[in-house]
Amino acid sequence: MYHLIIDCDPGHDDIIASMVAMAHPETFDILGFTTVAGNQTLEKVTNNLLRVQTLLETDYPVSMGYDAPIIKALEVQPKAHGESGLDGPILPEAKRTVTGLHAIEFMKETLENSSEKVTFLCIGPLTNMALFLKTYPHLKEKIQAIAIMGGAVNGGNIQLKSEFNIYHDPEAAKIVFGSGAKVIMAGLEVCYAGSILLSEAEEANGRGRASQLFYDLMKFYGRYAVDRGWDRTAIFDMTPLIYLLRPELFETKEYEVHVELNGEYTRGMTVVDLAKTEDLIHPATVLWDVKREEFIQTLFEALDILDKRYQ
Ligand code: BDR
Ligand code: CA
Repeated sequence: MYHLIIDCDPGHDDIIASMVAMAHPETFDILGFTTVAGNQTLEKVTNNLLRVQTLLETDYPVSMGYDAPIIKALEVQPKAHGESGLDGPILPEAKRTVTGLHAIEFMKETLENSSEKVTFLCIGPLTNMALFLKTYPHLKEKIQAIAIMGGAVNGGNIQLKSEFNIYHDPEAAKIVFGSGAKVIMAGLEVCYAGSILLSEAEEANGRGRASQLFYDLMKFYGRYAVDRGWDRTAIFDMTPLIYLLRPELFETKEYEVHVELNGEYTRGMTVVDLAKTEDLIHPATVLWDVKREEFIQTLFEALDILDKRYQ
């Protein structure tokens, strides 16, 4: 059982990852969500999450965090996620509100009050996580793991060598990777390995409420792949969550991961030290590969479970 805080910037794939977590209360005790600026402004991503919770009739605590990276200016992602940050589905107006606690205060209170260690699923820029670790370093011992979607072993998606979440706030990422907490990294390559075929996503159409939300999200989110003639797309943020749920589907390796802050062409790059295999200081568990079919099946099973809740 994971006692889970989901730190996110919804975002299509953030919502899909969250739905998979919501489908599995036997594995995930969701303590709450914290939001961070990234795919869109803090107000927009928070509102998206509240509207989705209204649609899905859930009421997890939502606490707003930082509205900009530690040093960089905010650069949102309308190309991938639209002007709202969650373009595509028609969502009800939010009938939920935020806690009124800042994200890092919510994290602090939750960890202090928990008799068990808490796991973080970090699927946006790492601003909240980093500043929580800096502000309340003594609470690191209450962290079971920090499972991140971010970075890459070789490539990039926002810059030649940088993935969006890390590029968006590299200073934060450096703090988290160097914190000494157990870090699990789902970088671009393993996310691509688990890509969903666009034809598979079509199968959700006309099923229950959760499947329909997934389908509507994918219609917008999948455009990027369609426009390029690809037959599949990665649902990035789902990857670290499904690792927690079904680790047996993954191949993993332990490496030190450094974050490039100063490179002219490489700021925000995760430098995975493939050469160093011994005496690792702060190793991260790098998700290396995944069994694609079982991975996608896990997604559809979760949607089925959720659909049944609304029958
Ligand atoms: C990451 O960037 C965001 O656009 C997605 O939500 C995901 O967290 C992928 O690089
Ligand atoms: Ca995200």
